[in-house]
Amino acid sequence: MSLPAVPRTSREVQLVAQPRGLPADSDLLVAEMPLRAPGPGEVVVRNRYFLVFPGLRTLMGDETDGVPLPPLRSGDTLFGPALGEVVAVGEGVGLRPGDEVVHLDGWREFAVLAADHCSTASGAFPDPVAHLSTGSAAYGALTRLAPVRTGDTVFVSGAAGATGVLAGQIARLLGAGRVIGSTRSAAKAARLRDEFAFDAVVVPGSAPFADLLVGAAPDGLDVVVDTVGGDQLTAAVTVARSNARIALIGALSGQLSGDRAGGSSPASVDSYRLIVQGIALRGYRGADHPDVPAEWDEQFARWLHTEQIRFPYATVQGIDHAPAALQELIEGRHLVL
Ligand SMILES: NC(=O)c1ccc[n+]([C@@H]2O[C@H](COP(=O)([O-])OP(=O)(O)OC[C@H]3O[C@@H](n4cnc5c(N)ncnc54)[C@H](OP(=O)(O)O)[C@@H]3O)[C@@H](O)[C@H]2O)c1
Repeated sequence: MSLPAVPRTSREVQLVAQPRGLPADSDLLVAEMPLRAPGPGEVVVRNRYFLVFPGLRTLMGDETDGVPLPPLRSGDTLFGPALGEVVAVGEGVGLRPGDEVVHLDGWREFAVLAADHCSTASGAFPDPVAHLSTGSAAYGALTRLAPVRTGDTVFVSGAAGATGVLAGQIARLLGAGRVIGSTRSAAKAARLRDEFAFDAVVVPGSAPFADLLVGAAPDGLDVVVDTVGGDQLTAAVTVARSNARIALIGALSGQLSGDRAGGSSPASVDSYRLIVQGIALRGYRGADHPDVPAEWDEQFARWLHTEQIRFPYATVQGIDHAPAALQELIEGRHLVL
């Protein structure tokens, strides 16, 4: 295998200015920066893929208190999960050129980073991009916070998103009897039903969301995996059955709102209903479940190899297009399907 030569410069995506409201293309810049040689304990990784994810919007905003990643300020290079190959190593490093690794220094063509901040890509997945999947949170939610029981009715909000589309499939694999999703796009709704076996998909807008949800789940909800929050969470509580489990994974309606700073998502919830129905509602935080990622990787690899699960994603080629890709994510333009 021939390795790419290590260039003297590398392009990376930087935040020009902290956005007011949602970030625009002009808030990001692709800059060519000098690439230094690796020091002791360091490696140079050529990134092949990196993840475009909604949490970046939060990190650019003014509401990052308690967020488990550092904020992004003017001049900073964006970061996030990346998959690449080691192309140069410093002294005392166990990794070798050619090794495929996963790390958090995405949004740049080449990353110079501590070798112990890289983990070796296991090779367990039929498609190595699966290392960048956010499915661990969906799996953790559905096995730890809101365990699915055979025959349950499960509602996944934001079902056409990276996490939601896996959550729906995982729920089915764990025994759900009826799986309902939501998306704001009629085209995505059709694909969720046709290609991902969702029994019903609710598209907000034509009636109060709770009415639409009742139509899709006349007997109520046993389990909810919420990635949207806001009105959809309010409605999910209304439609939840006795002893329902609600796992909050994300809050896209607040996180991607131009009226908010990205780190808050208020929703009105009928607390009396939580009490009388014995409903459990809890946020999923990866750090509380350190055993989940390894278990998920093993299960995900098995389901992928046996073609019981599909891992859809959209790719955008070339770092020059990365700023636009973040825009497209915010606009919901990309089907992950
Ligand atoms: N707790 C954890 O450990 C954990 C782990 C991973 C992700 N998360 C969180 O989970 C959420 C989903 O992440 P993801 O990576 O799966 O997202 P994603 O795939 O990037 O989601 C993008 C989708 O969000 C939907 N969306 C955008 N704005 C929205 C709005 N105002 N209201 C409702 N939906 C909106 C759009 O879907 P439609 O066009 O289909 O409506 C869009 O396509 C995020 O909040 C993320 O931060 C949490």
